[in-house]
Order: sequence, then structure tokens, then C-alpha cells
Amino acid sequence: MDLLRFSTAGSVDDGKSTLIGRMLYDSKGIFEDQLEAVTSASKQRLATGIDLSLLTDGLRAEREQGITIDVAYRYFATPRRKFIIADTPGHEQYTRNMATGASTADLAIILIDARKGVIEQSRRHSAISALLGIPRICVAVNKMDLVDWSQDVFDKIRHDYLELADKLGISGVELIPLSALLGDNVVVRSEQTPWYQGRTLIEYLETVEIPKERSSDKFRFPVQYVVRPDLNFRGFAGQIASGSVKPGDEIEVVPSGKRAVVKQLHFFDRDLPEASFPKSLTITLDREVDVSRGDVLVKAGAAPRLSRDLDAQVVWMDERPLALTRPYFLKQGSRTVRARITRVLYRTDIQTLSEIPTSNLGLNDIGRVRISAAQPILLDPYAQFRRTGAFILIDPETNATVAAGMVAQDQPESSSDVVWSESDVSRVSREARNGHRGGVVWFTGLSGSGKSTIAKALEKRLFHDHRQVYLLDGDNLRHGLNKDLGFSSEARRENLRRAAETAKILVDAGFLVLATFISPTAADRALVREVIGDRDFVEIHVSTPLAACEARDPKGLYARARSGEIREFTGVSAPWEPPANPLLELPTHKLSVPESVAKVVDLLEAKGLFAEVVEVPGGGI
Ligand code: ADX
Repeated sequence: MDLLRFSTAGSVDDGKSTLIGRMLYDSKGIFEDQLEAVTSASKQRLATGIDLSLLTDGLRAEREQGITIDVAYRYFATPRRKFIIADTPGHEQYTRNMATGASTADLAIILIDARKGVIEQSRRHSAISALLGIPRICVAVNKMDLVDWSQDVFDKIRHDYLELADKLGISGVELIPLSALLGDNVVVRSEQTPWYQGRTLIEYLETVEIPKERSSDKFRFPVQYVVRPDLNFRGFAGQIASGSVKPGDEIEVVPSGKRAVVKQLHFFDRDLPEASFPKSLTITLDREVDVSRGDVLVKAGAAPRLSRDLDAQVVWMDERPLALTRPYFLKQGSRTVRARITRVLYRTDIQTLSEIPTSNLGLNDIGRVRISAAQPILLDPYAQFRRTGAFILIDPETNATVAAGMVAQDQPESSSDVVWSESDVSRVSREARNGHRGGVVWFTGLSGSGKSTIAKALEKRLFHDHRQVYLLDGDNLRHGLNKDLGFSSEARRENLRRAAETAKILVDAGFLVLATFISPTAADRALVREVIGDRDFVEIHVSTPLAACEARDPKGLYARARSGEIREFTGVSAPWEPPANPLLELPTHKLSVPESVAKVVDLLEAKGLFAEVVEVPGGGI
């Protein structure tokens, strides 16, 4: 008997739990003891009948006892087919589990409330299903009883939905008018819908053609456990994510590249002559090679691309929006690595499906991001590898799954193909010769706040003290390296990224860099800190108030900004977010230049930047 895996998606009160309950109940797939519990519990809630949502609410309680992936699976069978439902809660965070639970589903049931029609959430659910490559969608138009079984209502929803499906490129769509509460057209054909000739939901599920897994036939086996019951046996347990394997195959361990030949395939107490996706088994090899949890076995010579940098589509699932400053864990198969999101490339607009440039993603947003992981990860595109091409992002503080991700087909020019070449003269050697450490003193503040004036005086002072110092000035960089950039928030971001990378090179060369850039937003400065690294980054806020800057107006720019001649001027017509916790504030309307310089020198002294650097023989950094 074959197996259909499906997921369900609906918004709050669409009746998802009731629908699942109804399917289980009417198809008698429900276990007797659970039914009994439901009957007694629902006595308190409903005067008549059974509250079917309690069947799935029980499941939810199980789930809340700490299963991390947040998806519970429900099994049931009819005489014609076996089913696995990835059950996902219907509360506010409706997309959360849909993305994690649905990625291997053959089909998604999307619930639409007949009274509401195709709403934003239906669009979102459908966009996610399309993104996940779920081949079939069944739209359960629920609560038909509340619209008097109106054919017009159903036809309108059908028309709207097919238009959406067309835009999304989803072809296998079926719409069914039903009432989960009363049971019409779920398992039992309704007498209320004589105008509907199609299948009931369960008939549809029993007969819909299960699309062949369009997954790659390339072998991937993420190792979940190393099994070592005794000294003579060492096996690797896991589930085949794609392709197949047999004894005698030469395999390669990713990422170590070590090779071995498959000895046996163990499935409980049997040996298998061959195994393919989605079999779970234990593999033994002909020799001792180092394999640990999180490694992936692949066919020798057919290793996937590995990279620390990757582009991916993500569905953001957390209340806390995406933060470029925060580290995340990226979990791909059984492997977890530290990762950061370095850029948001765009957000997909759910209404128009167009790509909106943005620097942020919030709850339920779908978009494309660039990620930088601490360790190389597999670059299996999700379109071909539905298992190894998928991942989740976890917030290390809360342990919550914050996003589901899919490795993009087209990847950026990968820096992983470019090998980092280590110089024989280390930064420490340079610092030891200079007699002090390198680092970046980053001056942020409004135009005209006095950043350059202080930095110039400071540079002069440090230079006379025999420090290797260099002033990297925003205005000056915009004459050369950054002369192609304007003042939109994206252009400023790129301006600052280049400035930070330049500063970083100078730090590697042993310099104390004094950088003066407005760097108007917290996200801008977070990016800069990220590029340069916490250890080498000293943030100073030149906190002259806007009124004082404007009164000075050294370049006459404020006047021109006020008259509208200059657009997107920081503090006037473009945002300015003062830093929350700068190491030092310099209110230059109250401090003289020498006073400000002295304060910075004291700070650098206190931070140990002028301490003698001792080179340990043979040691690097
Ligand atoms: S940042 O916002 O990208 O950090 P940056 O420090 O490089 O700015 O450059 C700011 C300088 O460009 C200002 O000191 C000012 O002289 C000039 N400038 C010209 N147009 C603008 C504008 N629209 N907003 C801010 N500064 C501007």
C-alpha cells in the first residue's frame, strides 16, 4: 500500500484541527482510547456531539512537551492508502511549522474559510508551498454551511485561487467545498452541494497521483549517530536523504574527504542488498575512517560543493525580526554550525509576488538572504535536494526555530572557491614592531558634528607619538573607492561595508585606523562591527545635537537640505539613530577639540591599545 505525506495549513479558526479530527474520526482511523478521552472531555465543552478539534489538541499538548522541530506527525490509513499528516498548530505563527513540516510533503491542504475567501494568509501559505516545491495543493473551502452552501461563493473562491496558483506556478490544484464541523464532503459526500461533482476530500487523498520525488538521485547520507555496541562493530546510522547505496560502493566523507568502501547495510537484524531514499539504516565501512555525527556520506568523486557563504530563501518564523547583528545556529540535517546573516537581498511581496529590496525580515516574511557560516556547509540546491538543501535557523538564546531555509539554485560568486592565502608576516609581528596594537576607532555622528575635526587632531597627535595611524574619512572615500555610491540606505550600507573592509585591511597591516562616517543607523554600525570584529572595534559617538550641527553648517549642506536641494540628508530627510551604547560620547558643543582628543586618547589607553605587543616565537595570532 502506498503512502501519502501531506501537511495542513490554515489560519486561526479556519477549522484545521476539526478537519483533521473529522478525517481521522470518519475514516475510523482513530484509536479507541483516544476517542474515549475525547468523548468525555468534549462532554464538558459541547452539549452534543464530539469536539473533533480535541483529537488534535491532545497532539498539541504532546508537542508542547519540548519536541524541538515543532511538528507532530499523525498516521492513519484507509483500505486504499496510508497517510502521514505533518500537523502544524493553527495559532498566530501559522507559517512556522508549515515550513519545517511541509518540506517533504507530497501535498498541502490549505484551508480557506468560505466566509473570508482568499485572504493574505492563504496567499502566504500558498507562496510557501510553492517555495517548498510541494507538488500538489488541495484547497479545502471550509465552513460552506455558514454560507448556505452557495455555489457562487465557492466559484468566486475557486476563480481567485486559480489566479493566484497561476502566478505562483502551481499546477496541481484541487478545490473542495466542505464543512469539517458537519462532515460534508470530508469523508461522506454532501447532499447540500448537488452542484459539486468532484471528489470528497478523502476520495481525493486516496486517489490523487503521488508525484515521484523529484529529488536528485545523487546519494546523500547525513550521519545521525555513530553506533558502536562493541569493539568489533562501528556503524553509521541515519536516513538516506537522496539517491541509493549498495555494498561495494566507494563513498567519501563530507567534509573530511576521507574515502572508504561500503561493507554492509544493516536494517534491524537484516542485511540489505541495496537501499534508497527514504530508508533509515546503519552503514558499515571496510576500514576505520573518522566519521562523526553531522558528517554526510556521498559517492566518491561526486562530492557536493561546500561553502561558508550561501544564498537561501527563508521563511522568517519568529516574533523577533531577523537581526544582522545576532549569531544564529544553522542546522542542516544532523549538523549544526554557527552562522550569521550578512545581507537581506529582498522580501517577497505576498500580494504582487514581486521582490522588494529590504534590510529586514519580520514574522512570516519570505525573502532571500546571504548567510555566512562558521564552518563550510553543503551547497545542495533545494530544488534538487529537498532534504540536504533545506535547513533551519535557531536562535541560540531562546532555542527557537526562527527560520526555515532553502539553499538557492544560483549562488553568489563563491569566496569558497578562492583560497585565503596567509601572509608570512603576521599582524602580531607588525604590531610588535609598531609597539602597539592595531584597531579601528569608529566615529559616528551627524554631518557637521565634528567627527573629522577631532579625528584629524587625534591623527596628528598619535602620529607625533610614533603611532602607526591612518585617518579614513567618509567624504574622502566618496571621492574614490566609493564615488559610485549615493545616499540611499542601500548605498550607505555599501559605502560602510567597503569602508569597514578597508579599515580591516589597515588593521591587518598593523594600523590604528580613525574612521569618520555618519553611519546613520544601528544596522549600519552593526554591519561595520561585524566586518571588523568586536575585538578591534571602538565606537565613539560625536553627539553634537542636530540644532548645533545645523547652526554650524560648515559646508552649507543643511541649508541646501532644508530647501530641498539635497535629498535624503541625514537628520533632515533621512534617518539618524544615535548609538545606544557607544564607548564614549563627545558632545562637541560643550567640549573643545583638545578636550575631545584627550578623552579618546584616555579611552584607547584604557582599552590597552598602546600596550607593548610581544611576539611569541613561532606563535601567530
Ligand atoms: S554615510 O551615511 O554613508 O555614513 P558618509 O559619512 O560616507 O555617510 O558621508 C557623509 C558626507 O557626505 C557628509 O559629511 C556630507 O558632507 C556629504 N553628504 C552629501 N549628501 C549627503 C546626504 N544626503 N546625507 C548625508 N551626508 C551627505
